[in-house]
Amino acid sequence: MTEQVYMFDTTLRDGEQSPGASMTVDEKIRMAIQLEKLGVDVIEAGFPIASPGEFDSVRKIASSVKDVTVAGLARANKPDIDSAWEAIKISAHPRIHIFIATSDIHLKHKLRRTREQALEDAIGAVKYARRYTADVEFSAEDATRSDTDYLCEVVRAVIEAGASVVNIPDTVGYATPAEIGALFRRIREKTPNIDRVILSAHCHNDLGMAVANSLAAVRFGARQVECTVNGIGERAGNAALEEIVMAIRTREDQLPFHTRINSQEIYRTSKLLSTITGLVIPRNKPIVGKNAFAHESGVHQDGVIKQALTYEIMTPESVGVPHSSIVLGKHSGKHGLLARCETLGFKLSEEDLKTIYKKFIALADKKKEVTDEDLVAIVEEALNLIKEFYKLEYMQTTSGNKTMATATVQLRHDNKSDVDSAVGDGPVDATYKTIERITGISGKLLEYSINAVTIGEDAMGEAFVKLQFKDDVVAGRGLSTDVIEASAKAYLNALNKWLSLSSRK
Ligand code: KIV
Ligand code: ZN
Repeated sequence: MTEQVYMFDTTLRDGEQSPGASMTVDEKIRMAIQLEKLGVDVIEAGFPIASPGEFDSVRKIASSVKDVTVAGLARANKPDIDSAWEAIKISAHPRIHIFIATSDIHLKHKLRRTREQALEDAIGAVKYARRYTADVEFSAEDATRSDTDYLCEVVRAVIEAGASVVNIPDTVGYATPAEIGALFRRIREKTPNIDRVILSAHCHNDLGMAVANSLAAVRFGARQVECTVNGIGERAGNAALEEIVMAIRTREDQLPFHTRINSQEIYRTSKLLSTITGLVIPRNKPIVGKNAFAHESGVHQDGVIKQALTYEIMTPESVGVPHSSIVLGKHSGKHGLLARCETLGFKLSEEDLKTIYKKFIALADKKKEVTDEDLVAIVEEALNLIKEFYKLEYMQTTSGNKTMATATVQLRHDNKSDVDSAVGDGPVDATYKTIERITGISGKLLEYSINAVTIGEDAMGEAFVKLQFKDDVVAGRGLSTDVIEASAKAYLNALNKWLSLSSRK
């Protein structure tokens, strides 16, 4: 039997903190339950001290899963560690994850601490966390740009202090695979007590080498890799979980290891994340992109028909790509609907299913195919997962090539109606400006698209927006036979989502 590589998933922490990936607590819980099904060993649920909302969501995640370790992130100080412990202690397998930077760049400019002070902080923090649990992970932030001798000194000291996992992050995605391999080898050679811990790699993707670097780390001694679904994360992202898992599985000859991941859940997990966040998976994304198993050229098609091995190094089935996707429409029954809702991470009671089915049929009557995104919107509305702080009651726009576009909008909020008007650069802009005037909340429009989702005279238009409110980027969708109304609904959907998020923060 080959050695196991533990999969530490940080989609809900490093992934979620990146622009465009914000999730509500309910969305995080659905994702956590799917990650447990996928078979990850550790779920990093968040950074509890960051805000009361973050604390609350880490606590809820910790109580929603049971067959997986739940980690809470903390800086190397007592209040962070107390907060992390309070949030995760309900978990069957809690882990406190402490980090402090070890590179001179971070020490000098960010922490304003000397190497000696940071070393003391690290030791003190690990000892303090050990009072709560034996499962304490230590991360040397910016390890790959740290002085190796100093890094080894810190690693040795935190092991002595009681850490059970030591993580070596390539925080800024700077290293190359050869460097990472050499670094892990050096750490193992220079740290006499290294065999007492699990060594871990945490690679960012700024130069597109996160997966290669993680695999190099595994070859040179890492037995835990930290990664995210679809590779989401700070800046260019983190190492993609699905790529690491399938590389290990497909190239066992080069990488004689195994993971506990149920690879057939990969596609479902990837799709769930993209449905929740609105972060579109590029068509050519390895493993989970639409084109990953599509063969376009005649020569390739001919080869695959004769023998799939000619152009396929792994099968679509092995990562759970459905053979034929069942389309949900007005002829679909309650069973099909329930199965799809479960795939999307919702647990429904009989009563919920009845309500959702009614809404589903009403939409399916207007729209030939009900997509996963539609279904999420229906379920969220039916289960009150996203509170409708603002609801569109009435709107009217005028526009033309010789007139200034004007919008009048009436919104319901707190049991009263507010109406206002504004002019803008086109009817959509005028509508958004009016909504801003009424709500007093300004959002920056980052993405906007309209798609026709049905054809014919009563064609439905679907608007998709990405809006930035303060530091959060949220996606919103709206559907109507009138594209301006669809645009208004999409804006309000994103705003309501953000307000739900903020009320928890
Ligand atoms: O990239 C990084 O260094 C991190 C640490 C907190 C582990 O995310
Ligand atoms: Zn990171």
